[in-house]
Amino acid sequence: MKTTWPARVSNNLQSHPTAMQATATKVVEFERPQMETGGSCTASAWAKVPPTPSVEERASLKARIKQLLREKQAVLVSHYYVDADLQDLAEETGGCVSDSLEMARFGRDHPAKTLIVAGVRFMGETAKILSPEKRILMPDLDATCSLDLGCAPDEFAAFCDQHPDRTVVVYANTSAAVKARADWMVTSSIGLEIVQALHAQGKKILWAPDKHLGSYIQKQTGADMLLWQGSCLVHDEFKGTELELMRAAHPEALVLVHPESPAAVVAQADVIGSTSQLIAAVQASNAPSFIVATDNGILHKMRQAAPGKLFIDAPTAGNSATCKSCAHCPWMAMNGLQNLLHVLETGANEIHVDPAVGKQAVVCIDRMLDFAAKKKANVRPSARLENEQTLFAGIGPA
Ligand code: 13P
Ligand code: SF4
Repeated sequence: MKTTWPARVSNNLQSHPTAMQATATKVVEFERPQMETGGSCTASAWAKVPPTPSVEERASLKARIKQLLREKQAVLVSHYYVDADLQDLAEETGGCVSDSLEMARFGRDHPAKTLIVAGVRFMGETAKILSPEKRILMPDLDATCSLDLGCAPDEFAAFCDQHPDRTVVVYANTSAAVKARADWMVTSSIGLEIVQALHAQGKKILWAPDKHLGSYIQKQTGADMLLWQGSCLVHDEFKGTELELMRAAHPEALVLVHPESPAAVVAQADVIGSTSQLIAAVQASNAPSFIVATDNGILHKMRQAAPGKLFIDAPTAGNSATCKSCAHCPWMAMNGLQNLLHVLETGANEIHVDPAVGKQAVVCIDRMLDFAAKKKANVRPSARLENEQTLFAGIGPA
C-alpha cells in the first residue's frame, strides 16, 4: 500500500514547518509500520539539500567555524555519517566523531557549556536529556530519522499499554517522548549485551522501533522479544541477492554489516556491528578490500583508518530494486558547513526537550551508560545512577 504521509504529520517536523522554505528540498520515501494491521505503508517526508560550497568557500567556512568554536567555547560532536568536513572539524577542534553511544557519553562528560551536535535530531535530544543545563545546537533541527518518524509516541504508548508484562527496550533512534516510556535505551553497539542480560533475568522484551536490529538481537540471544516494525531507510535497502553476486566478484573482500540491515544481508556478514565497531574491524583486518553495508558517510573514516585499501558500497539496487537513499541518509546529509557556521554565528537551532519528559527519558539512557561503564572501563558511570548498586534488580516494566 502506498500513501502520502505529509511531513507535518510527523512529530519532529511539525514544530518547524517554515524551515523547509529556506532551501531546496527533496521528497524522501520510507516504510512506515502499521502496527494495527502488522504491515507497513510507504510514507513520504522531506529532507533539505544543502548547497555544495566551492573549494575557496569551503576553506573559509572551515577557518571561520574553527575560530567561532574557540571563541564561543563550544564543542562539536559529529556522527560518522555526516559530511567528511564536519567529522574532521570535530576531531581537529577537540570534539569527537563517533557512534551514537559515544556521542551521548562524550557530550555528557565534556565540560563545555555549548555542544553542537552534527547528526540527526534524536542525537541532539539525547544530549539535551543527559545535560539539561547545557545549550545544545544542531546545524538543522529538521534532520530526522525514518525510525523516529515510524514510531509516534501515542501509538507506541498504546502498544506498551497492551503489553504491561514486558520490559520496554528502545533504540536510541527515537523521540524523547518514546524514551520517556522506556525502561532501557540501547544503541547498536550495546543492544545485544543489554538484551542478553535482561533475558538472563527472565525478562520478556518489548522492542522498538527497528525490526531488523530487533530480530538480529532476538536470534542471537534467544530472548522473548515483541518487535515494533520500523526500519532505517538506508539499511533496509541493502539487498541479499545482489550482495551474493558482489561477494562472488570480490572473494577477497571482508563483508561489514550494520545490524539495521535485513536478515539476508546480516547472514552474509564477516563482521556485524555499530559504526565504530565496523571501523575498528577495518583497523584490525589484513583484508585488502571491504564490502560495506551501512551509510557510506562512514567510508571517510574507514579510508583514514586503512589508506590504500578498497571500499565498496554494498548493493542497494539491482533488478526490481529501488534506491530511496542510495546508501546515504538524506537527513544526515542536511548537516553542512554553511548551516554549522550559521548556528555558531547566531545561536540558532537550539534543541529543547520538555523538562518533565526529559526527567523520565533520562532514566533509560542512564541505565545504558551505566551498563556500558560496567562493561568498559572507559565509560564513566552517570552521577545520577552512581548509587544504584543493583543495576538490574529493580528494572522491569514501568
Ligand atoms: P551507530 O553509530 O550507533 O551504529 O548508529 C547508527 C545509526 O543509526 C545512526 O543513525
Ligand atoms: Fe535514521 Fe537510518 Fe538515517 Fe540513521 S541512517 S538517521 S537510522 S534513517
